[in-house]
Amino acid sequence: MEKDLFTGKAALVTGSSRGIGRAIALGFARAGADLVINHSKAGGSSQKKAEEVCREIEGLGRKAFVVQADIGLKSSVREMIEAVSGRYGRLDFLVLNAAKAPFKPIEKLLEREMRQLVETNFMGNIFCIQEALHLLGAAEGKILFISSLGSRFYNPAYPLGSMKAAMEAVVRDCAESLAPRKISVNGICGGVVKTDSFKVLRQHMEELEHIPEELCVSPDAIADVAVFLCGPAARGIRGQTIVVDNGLSNRLYRPAWAGEQKSRKGVDS
Ligand SMILES: NC(=O)c1ccc[n+]([C@@H]2O[C@H](COP(=O)([O-])OP(=O)(O)OC[C@H]3O[C@@H](n4cnc5c(N)ncnc54)[C@H](OP(=O)(O)O)[C@@H]3O)[C@@H](O)[C@H]2O)c1
Repeated sequence: MEKDLFTGKAALVTGSSRGIGRAIALGFARAGADLVINHSKAGGSSQKKAEEVCREIEGLGRKAFVVQADIGLKSSVREMIEAVSGRYGRLDFLVLNAAKAPFKPIEKLLEREMRQLVETNFMGNIFCIQEALHLLGAAEGKILFISSLGSRFYNPAYPLGSMKAAMEAVVRDCAESLAPRKISVNGICGGVVKTDSFKVLRQHMEELEHIPEELCVSPDAIADVAVFLCGPAARGIRGQTIVVDNGLSNRLYRPAWAGEQKSRKGVDS
């Protein structure tokens, strides 16, 4: 990775105290950017982890500070963007990574769970885009959304998938509507990444335990594509959500009624 690719630029990664967001924040710092680390829970281990990420980034010779903000609250997002403006006076990269959702079938969602699902994973991302627009416009900035395979494939305990699908449409729409302001918008659709949220999801989907290690993706593999999509080499990519899953989705179609013999018919003969 080019060390000074993002030198002099500033990035906000929502939900960057741990997991994929942390890896993306560190990837941007390695490429030279200054960072804003965001998490939602006040105090405790969440705050501690966010501060640790900051120390790591400072160790790389870049600036970083923590903002505790719930992206589902517009006022909270506004205060976060004001803090970014006050500290750095600019924002070049907005990475929409934060997510939180219950793992249960859609038909079993309680009203409050449904509201939280939409407020955090749809409205929250749009609040971030709206509030950061003036800074991103001034910097000819980039917006990057982190999606998941649940946007395209059925998973019985993953209502977040429908929010990811909606956001992939937002990626396409904003790529067009924000193009006149020279803001580029893209997404990454990640495969299975063994983070804290994966540990919870696998309690609801036993089959996840059996996914071979080589079909899982590391947080760093997602981070590398994030840096690429926000860099000049990706200037020809607009409104796309790129799948980064180590090929997992290529292998998902294995119907129980078609044995190995049958599925290879016409391939070997
Ligand atoms: N893990 C996977 O297999 C996988 C695969 C594809 C895509 N993804 C996507 O990648 C992203 C990161 O996933 P992950 O597994 O790394 O998640 P994670 O380990 O659960 O971390 C979630 C992060 O988001 C923050 N967050 C949660 N709700 C928030 C809110 N309302 N406002 C601000 N921050 C909030 C958390 O902060 P606190 O610590 O304060 O709660 C934490 O920093 C998500 O969008 C997820 O859907 C994950």
